[in-house]
Amino acid sequence: MTRVPIAERIQEYINKKCIYFCMPGHKMGRGFNRDEIGKGILKNIITGDLTEVDGLDNLHKPEEVLREELELLRKIYSTEKSYFLVNGSTSGNMIMIFSAFEENDKIIVERNCHKSIMNGIILRKLKPVYVDPYNYDKYDTPLVPQEELIIEMMEKNEDAKGIILTYPNYFGICFDLEKIIIKAKELNMMVIIDSAHGAHFGFNARLPKSAVELGADVVVVSAHKTLPSLTQTAYLHVNNLELVEKVDRYFSMFSSTSPSYLFMQSMAYSRYYLEKYAEKDYHYLIDVCEYYKQKINDLNKFKVFNENRSYINIDRTRYTIIVPIGYSGKKLYDYLLYNNIQPEMSNHRCVVLILSYFNTKEEFEKLYEVLRNCNMENIKDDSYSFKMQEIKPIVKFLPHEAINMKKVSMNVVECEGEICGEEIIPYPPGIPLLNPGELITKEAIEYIQFCLKNNIQIFGVDRDKILILENN
Ligand SMILES: Cc1ncc(COP(=O)(O)O)c(C=O)c1O
Repeated sequence: MTRVPIAERIQEYINKKCIYFCMPGHKMGRGFNRDEIGKGILKNIITGDLTEVDGLDNLHKPEEVLREELELLRKIYSTEKSYFLVNGSTSGNMIMIFSAFEENDKIIVERNCHKSIMNGIILRKLKPVYVDPYNYDKYDTPLVPQEELIIEMMEKNEDAKGIILTYPNYFGICFDLEKIIIKAKELNMMVIIDSAHGAHFGFNARLPKSAVELGADVVVVSAHKTLPSLTQTAYLHVNNLELVEKVDRYFSMFSSTSPSYLFMQSMAYSRYYLEKYAEKDYHYLIDVCEYYKQKINDLNKFKVFNENRSYINIDRTRYTIIVPIGYSGKKLYDYLLYNNIQPEMSNHRCVVLILSYFNTKEEFEKLYEVLRNCNMENIKDDSYSFKMQEIKPIVKFLPHEAINMKKVSMNVVECEGEICGEEIIPYPPGIPLLNPGELITKEAIEYIQFCLKNNIQIFGVDRDKILILENN
């Protein structure tokens, strides 16, 4: 029988009627039901699937309606220039890296960066120096690097052309970016910020400040992750006028020549949403989030991350639910899913939920009840017996050198002491465990085996084989 399996699969998923504590931020269309303008967009969701036809503007040379929209976007985020990205923050990271750096530049980068940053580093042939995340021993989870460590790396590597940081990280946690930017200016370093999870920052005083406001040179934010915008949409913001010419060039190289007007319309709607509703909606949402956070923490089963330390600030519209030692974040994720709650992601110690104004109070209540009823025996797991911080990168070749060397496939268990030929990335969230050119350690092998055993998707591993450099 002739079928369209993907359509069947999507229908099956919709039929489950899950509670979406995940992206996209419009939560299955609800975000567009906020008012008549949004409803109009929903109504035209297929007929509006246009590209640069007569009467509509060209994204690569905006002169009319897109020019007007981009000016509105620039104003609301207070930037020198802003762009609509139709190829996700992934393309934004490429554009930022190509615009800010030249081949062979040394740069400082957070090890916990997204894979698109690593790909940009490889393609631009940069020399990365990594900043390790700080491991919160209490939770055995790497959260954000401490700014002291970042600043120390900057002082040790004064010849670096710039620094690339993730703000906030996947857990909604931010370090004191302002302090780092001040240091970077002192050392004449460019500050590139992947703020994919922070498109809403700065629009309510109870949210962290935006990276743009704090003075980063160039920033990418994903509209689709936290705002009512379609999947794949993002904004690129330039604060540094000197970069504009190059950003224009690389924007054109890394963007589709058939940009979807549905995407651009939804990005425009998100900008409008921020302008009109953000202050009020985020105030309400944070109240609800804080209320249920307290209730969940009072269960004394899990801990919704809430550290109040001087050097971190958190996005209060996101829950990172940490399970006690000896229990599994992945098993809690599966349990929530079994109860029709779709989380954003999990790792061995936590589950991340992206919460929105478009999630109802009933949905928060259901989350609370499901967590309350969780039989902790069922999420026990003592197979994870090593510490994340033991997985330190040992660089033997630069990533762009290793990527072009001859490779062979080898069983993971036999790879200790070999050099990795391919990025090995557990997903989500897409943080590299090993980059090309790095020594494969016992700890990395254990982590790969842990992912395989627990059905955690891991790119760069084909069944139980990985690519290593041939002649080492
Ligand atoms: C921190 C970070 N940066 C960049 C990206 C890439 O965004 P996109 O998939 O929208 O291209 C992601 C995606 O999850 C991310 O988490």
